[in-house]
Amino acid sequence: MRREHPTAVLDTQEQDGSAAATAVAHPNIALIKYWGKRDERLILPVTDSLSMTLDVFPTTTHVRLAPGAGQDEVTLNGAPATGEAGRRITAFLDLVRERAGSDLRAVVDTENTVPTGAGLASSASGFAALAMAAAAAYGLGLDDTALSRLARRGSGSASRSIFGDFTVWHAGPDTGDLDAADLGSYAEPVPTADLDPALVIAVVNAGPKPVSSREAMRRTVDTSPLFRPWADSSRDDLTDMRAALTKGDLEAVGEIAERNALGMHATMLAARPAVRYLSPATVTVLDQVLQLRRDGVAAYATMDAGPNVKVLCPRADAQRVADAVRAAAPDSTVLVAGPGPGARLVDEGGR
Ligand code: DP6
Repeated sequence: MRREHPTAVLDTQEQDGSAAATAVAHPNIALIKYWGKRDERLILPVTDSLSMTLDVFPTTTHVRLAPGAGQDEVTLNGAPATGEAGRRITAFLDLVRERAGSDLRAVVDTENTVPTGAGLASSASGFAALAMAAAAAYGLGLDDTALSRLARRGSGSASRSIFGDFTVWHAGPDTGDLDAADLGSYAEPVPTADLDPALVIAVVNAGPKPVSSREAMRRTVDTSPLFRPWADSSRDDLTDMRAALTKGDLEAVGEIAERNALGMHATMLAARPAVRYLSPATVTVLDQVLQLRRDGVAAYATMDAGPNVKVLCPRADAQRVADAVRAAAPDSTVLVAGPGPGARLVDEGGR
């Protein structure tokens, strides 16, 4: 399922003649997790990962080149981007400028509909949209594979949000040749049989997380005795996951995703000091997922760097799963997502 979209076209020419582009991207949820980098600068992961792009919480990013400006001007949800978020975006724009041979600063305006920092992958949709809009505005002329590599440099998981539906992100060859690794580390669509899945998202806490996923990942790789065994088993999980997707066996997909996510959390719990994102409400939802299975519903849970739970199930059971999760965790916000589209350029009207 390959999407066509107009890559590297300028969708607007502003009144002062400067180039501008707007892109929309959706978050993705990993079913085989990315957890651990082997190169921090290039954002090369230790393992391959596999995700489903969602049809909720899009990020829309507008990039306009600003001739004469002395610095980038970045706005996130209407407020100037400060601190780490602002630094990461400027560093990313520096990379785009280096490739474009340009020293023009940019005005970046981003509307994020996902709660930032809540373990719902706002950086995935954010850097996928930024990569696509900035590449177009600076005239880089990149195809989807190159955009995926570029988005990876902003945030690893963003490499997967360039594509819709199910996507695999290749770690790239690990031979010590960093150029080859950089070139080989990109995402691409995964062919699947008909699955008709839903992801029931239980936001049990929308606040910012105590430890950033970047720091938690680093600490896990550096100190957790469980990291290497998990990374090794994750390779087998990916093989099994691909087979389950090809067969259209949603129950197996869920089972593999759940064991992979619980294993990832085990690596963090064993880090020194431990990183524990799972809260009492998380465990309550996990118990309810077990109960649903006992009642014959093929529901399986996955969690990222935060307390929120995403429950994979057949679309036909999504309402029942959502009701059960709401009943178990009445303070949570529950919504149902499905497979969503890849990143795309849009015009000013959002089309
Ligand atoms: C737990 O992509 O946010 O969501 O590359 O440091 O920006 P950086 O990390 P990020 O990590 C996502 C980790 C995860 C699992 C996943 O999405 O695969």
